[in-house]
Amino acid sequence: MDMIDPFGRAITYLRVSVTDRCDFRCVYCMAENMTFLPRKDLLSLEELDRLCTAFINKGVRKLRLTGGEPLVRKNIMHLVHELSRHLKSGALEELTLTTNGSQLQRFAQELADAGVRRINVSLDTLDPEKFHAITRWGHLDKVLAGIDAALTAGLKIKINAVALRGFNDQEIPDMLRWAHGQGMDMTVIETMPMGEIDTDRTDQYLPLSLLRSQLERQFTLTDIPYKTGGPARYVEIAETGGRLGFITPMTHNFCESCNRVRLTCTGTLYMCLGQEDAADLRAPLRASEGDELLSKAIDEAIARKPKGHDFIIDRLTNRPSVSRHMSVTGG
Ligand code: 5AD
Ligand code: SF4
Repeated sequence: MDMIDPFGRAITYLRVSVTDRCDFRCVYCMAENMTFLPRKDLLSLEELDRLCTAFINKGVRKLRLTGGEPLVRKNIMHLVHELSRHLKSGALEELTLTTNGSQLQRFAQELADAGVRRINVSLDTLDPEKFHAITRWGHLDKVLAGIDAALTAGLKIKINAVALRGFNDQEIPDMLRWAHGQGMDMTVIETMPMGEIDTDRTDQYLPLSLLRSQLERQFTLTDIPYKTGGPARYVEIAETGGRLGFITPMTHNFCESCNRVRLTCTGTLYMCLGQEDAADLRAPLRASEGDELLSKAIDEAIARKPKGHDFIIDRLTNRPSVSRHMSVTGG
């Protein structure tokens, strides 16, 4: 019954982008003038629930809602409440989400009440002006208020920062002290060449091996075996007593332990973040009330999950490795 791909990897983790829309326009993620999917192409919340449930029946144990920004999807809490039945039954171990934090003040308590325990908040700087510059449309104070609300509601938070050369590399030590000071983990991510944006990624790209040696000048980093089911490799920082994760899609390939697939808000399944191949699940979902067709389509998709990605960022290859933006699959 479990989903095993051609390389023997068990697929136990589903990431679901519930909308490709976002109330920010982060410069490394989107062009300012983005074209979004027509609303009529969206799966309904009921259809998303049916799809998630089919995956849970096939062995998915961890489900992450992403976007775009998941909390801007209309009535998103309805889906969260519906999905939480799988937490209660024990079929699902974890229901979580990745958010930019803009709407957290409003939703944090309700998320906690629905059984969400941990969330990831994307935050690249603690400087209000830089924050506005990188997100184009975001306001730092709202996000910080959202983080406070989430901590108050008892949610565990991991701060995800995309490491950007000349933008936030100098600030990461302060962000670490801030996050760890409030009991939050932090993860840094290498920027990936996904989708056309308005700027040149070659200028933004910062290999994390470099960031690590910079950090080692002021902190004591110890590798630890801590795992959250994702690709991050963690260190503990003696000076802050907190954890820092490195996600290195560019400099270190972690595909051998990949346990995940990604579903978009139109029912397209991507078997790999760094490949174009995808399977349409909307047609089999809508073709019948039962799940046999859907289940077969999922099996066929998993059977062609690729071995891995090969992202390249350099001046010669000055184009995205995949044409879709991160906001289609939510990372
Ligand atoms: N490369 C790396 N990370 C990205 N994100 C968005 N676009 C990119 C990109 N091109 C990050 C966001 C968020 C997560 C969902 O993905 O900052 O943390
Ligand atoms: Fe929105 Fe996240 Fe993309 Fe920023 S990185 S524009 S918050 S989806």
